[in-house]
Parts: sequence; C-alpha cells; structure tokens
Amino acid sequence: MPLNLRPMTHEDLGEVKRIQARITRQPVPQPWMDMLAEHVDKIYRLGFVAEEDGALVGFILGEIKIGGFGTELSGWLELVGVDPEHMGSGVGAALAEVLFAALLKRGVQKVYTAVRWDSGDMLAFFKKVGFDQSSFINLRRMNQAD
Ligand SMILES: CC(C)(COP(=O)(O)OP(=O)(O)OC[C@H]1O[C@@H](n2cnc3c(N)ncnc32)[C@H](O)[C@@H]1OP(=O)(O)O)[C@@H](O)C(=O)NCCC(=O)NCCS
Repeated sequence: MPLNLRPMTHEDLGEVKRIQARITRQPVPQPWMDMLAEHVDKIYRLGFVAEEDGALVGFILGEIKIGGFGTELSGWLELVGVDPEHMGSGVGAALAEVLFAALLKRGVQKVYTAVRWDSGDMLAFFKKVGFDQSSFINLRRMNQAD
C-alpha cells in the first residue's frame, strides 16, 4: 500500500500524540500538544503526516523564518517522528521530501535543522536526506533569575 502524504489537520493530533508517546515512551505533555496544534493551517509553520492503510505512521514539523532585512527566508525541519513499527521503511525520508518541496514552493532554498551531537541515528537520517554541516553554530544560555 503506498504512503499517503498530506498536510496535518486538527483531526490528526491525537494520532500524532500516540506516535510521539511510542517514540519517547513517555506521556506527551500538554505544551507539546499546544505546540503541535500550532502547525495546522499556519503560514509560517508546517505540519505533514504520512498514512499507510488509513493509519497514521509518521509526522514532520517545520517552520519558515524570515532573516535579516526581512528578505531572506530559511526553512527549519523542527521535528520528525515515525511510528517505531514503521521505522526503516522510507517513511521519514518521504516526509522530509514533502516538507522540502513545500518549503521550496514558498521560495525557501536553505533548510536547517538541529540534532544532538551524540544522536548517531538522527544524524545518519539527516545526512541521508541531504543535510550537511552548516556555517551556523548553536549557542545556549542558561536562563535563570539572579
Ligand atoms: C529518524 C527517523 C525519523 C527516520 O525515519 P525512518 O522512516 O525510520 O527512516 P527511513 O526509512 O526514511 O530512512 C532513511 C535513511 O535514514 C537513515 N536512517 C534511518 N534510521 C536510521 C537509524 N536508526 N540508524 C542509522 N540510519 C538511519 C538511513 O540511511 C536510511 O536510509 P537507508 O534505508 O537507505 O539506509 C525515525 O526513525 C524516528 O522517528 N526516530 C525517532 C525520532 C526522534 O527521536 N525524534 C526526535 C528528534 S527530531
């Protein structure tokens, strides 16, 4: 059965939650669900899902940022998740391609993502779908009240 790739709708949120819980093996917190809902029918946030035999098997979330001088657009792959039972069968790569195509349609030519340095499998996946090291580095500030 071929994969059906389509934009995420509000009706999909419960199934995406189920997939996320299976990946993380943790209950999905409400703020995560609120963040997820912000990727439905939005201009600068994108969400897509993959269906097989009518069941959701994966999701991907992205964002468009507008850079300096209000002109340069960049795309971000924020999160991708595939139901563990369906991992390794091309679902993640297909979702990435749908996101890249949607970003390109919106004029986005550079797509970024971030990954933990020690997350070998995610790194391998990102390399496979075309990512390479960018000229940015990631900075972090521990934010606490004095
Ligand atoms: C990473 C993930 C999205 C990949 O999706 P997938 O459908 O399993 O991957 P695909 O079948 O499309 O694989 C595409 C390529 O990625 C690479 N890849 C995927 N999973 C991999 C793994 N576990 N280890 C090494 N390489 C991997 C392979 O090169 C593969 O190509 P190949 O099959 O020709 O060798 C999925 O496994 C997943 O959801 N993992 C947990 C996600 C997670 O922790 N998300 C939170 C942070 S974003």
